[in-house]
Amino acid sequence: MRQSVTVLTALLAMVVLVAAGPLSAEPAREISVIPQPQSVSYGEGRFVVTADTVIVADDELQAIGQYLSELLSGSTGYELPVRTPGDDAPVSGVIRLGLNPGPEDIGDQGYVLTVSQAGIDLSAKAPAGVFYGCQTLRQLLPAVQAQGQAADGVEYSIPALEIRDTPRFPQWRGMHLDTSRHFFSVDFVKQYIDLLAMYKFNTFHWHLTEDQGWRIQINKHPLLTDIGAWRTDKDGNRYGGFYTQDQVREIVAYAQSRFITVVPEIEMPGHSVAALAAYPHLSCTGGPFEVSNKWGVHKEVYCAGNEQTFELLTDVLAEVIEMFPGEYIHVGGDEVPKDRWESCEKCQSRIKVEGLADEHELQSYFIKRIDTFLAGHGKKLVGWDEILEGGLAPGATVMSWRGEKGGIAAAKMGRDVVMSPYSHLYFDFKQSDDPEEMGATWGGYPIPLKLVYSYEPVPAELSEDEAQHILGAQANVWTEPIETPEHVQYMILPRMLGLSEVVWSAKDQRDWPGFEARVIEHYRRFDALGLTYRDHRD
Ligand code: ACM
Ligand code: ZN
Repeated sequence: MRQSVTVLTALLAMVVLVAAGPLSAEPAREISVIPQPQSVSYGEGRFVVTADTVIVADDELQAIGQYLSELLSGSTGYELPVRTPGDDAPVSGVIRLGLNPGPEDIGDQGYVLTVSQAGIDLSAKAPAGVFYGCQTLRQLLPAVQAQGQAADGVEYSIPALEIRDTPRFPQWRGMHLDTSRHFFSVDFVKQYIDLLAMYKFNTFHWHLTEDQGWRIQINKHPLLTDIGAWRTDKDGNRYGGFYTQDQVREIVAYAQSRFITVVPEIEMPGHSVAALAAYPHLSCTGGPFEVSNKWGVHKEVYCAGNEQTFELLTDVLAEVIEMFPGEYIHVGGDEVPKDRWESCEKCQSRIKVEGLADEHELQSYFIKRIDTFLAGHGKKLVGWDEILEGGLAPGATVMSWRGEKGGIAAAKMGRDVVMSPYSHLYFDFKQSDDPEEMGATWGGYPIPLKLVYSYEPVPAELSEDEAQHILGAQANVWTEPIETPEHVQYMILPRMLGLSEVVWSAKDQRDWPGFEARVIEHYRRFDALGLTYRDHRD
């Protein structure tokens, strides 16, 4: 449906352009917006942003107007005032942000951006669309950052055009960050969120607990961070850190103002050695344990036969629910060795009492209990595809990482899916076979930008109805080999640009040479912003 609208729009644009003759002279290459908007048509002339330009925003859009003013101040050095309509607003030199019930086909995240020599009009049905339009607007300006004042010899101008845009996957355009293997500051997490915003992602999956560190303050169980947030690395150094609840709220609000939902991940029943170091009685053996300083899959997992395990985890989730207003809570569920459960009296007794067939069904029992708890608090559970084993919990959404098989199976069961296969979307894997590449020791094979860009989130074997269950896609950034902010930037830039286009732009717009040319333009933006990246041509 959307594709036929796009085709129709393109045909109409051609008719208009043919009729108008020279108006179409502007080469498409002139703008380098990523992700590629669904439709662009060019007019005549340019709008020039000057020190006298004014932003006029509807009342509900004042905060976005302010955000746009800050973005533009960053690139131009001008401090543009933000006014409401009707104030003595000038008639020209205005960037106008407005809410508008139509047009019908752009959805709640779409926008229409009209640039003429006289002014800019950005309208959308809902604030999210206006926000995305601001990101487009920012990318239409030259790739420079002002050092406090407008740069000499730069014209801050935008070609006259009309962009009508809307995302292909409105529900889940995700990026993940593991802050447990290595810890990242609040400031860096905000910078990460800013990068997501720039490329119109709407979901930040925040991996907060692991064998190697528990990173979120839980008031009722302080040892989770007093003990669980700190490890002794192999070189003897103490390493760690955690986010206080105030910091978590600050990050969630920061993301919210950028139309990004934060999905916290609290891992269970595996990847939980840090929690078990704090509370060893929740393991099958009783411990003692140390917060791990080794990577890989650990055999120590929560005891599924012990009621206290569920008491702790529901206490934790109750506090997590208070901090994260989004719909989804991620509970991990991946890589759970069954060794301890096989030889644990309590776990075996649980299997018997509940009439479970084996340890896989015990894992399913575990996740189902948590699913029931979350559903009772108005939240949806999402977990890695191992949660399919032994039976999928009724409310669960599946994040397919071991390829697409899990996602396909879940969609065929009529269940929601986020595609995140390691074949294309593990951004901790290296980007090339270049031995000079930063951090190239990790990942069995390279995932270059072109491979990311080739990813299609909807598997061909799904029917149209089943395909509706593919909410979108997400890339993951596990940080075992990644210790610094610059290294995280290097791993996601430019690969997240490829993913942004996969999840935002129309399927039939995929065009590697065109995308590559635009990416190269974005390298100049990264340079201007002081970001570290890997040039995919190296
Ligand atoms: C995973 O990579 N273990 C989800
Ligand atoms: Zn047990």
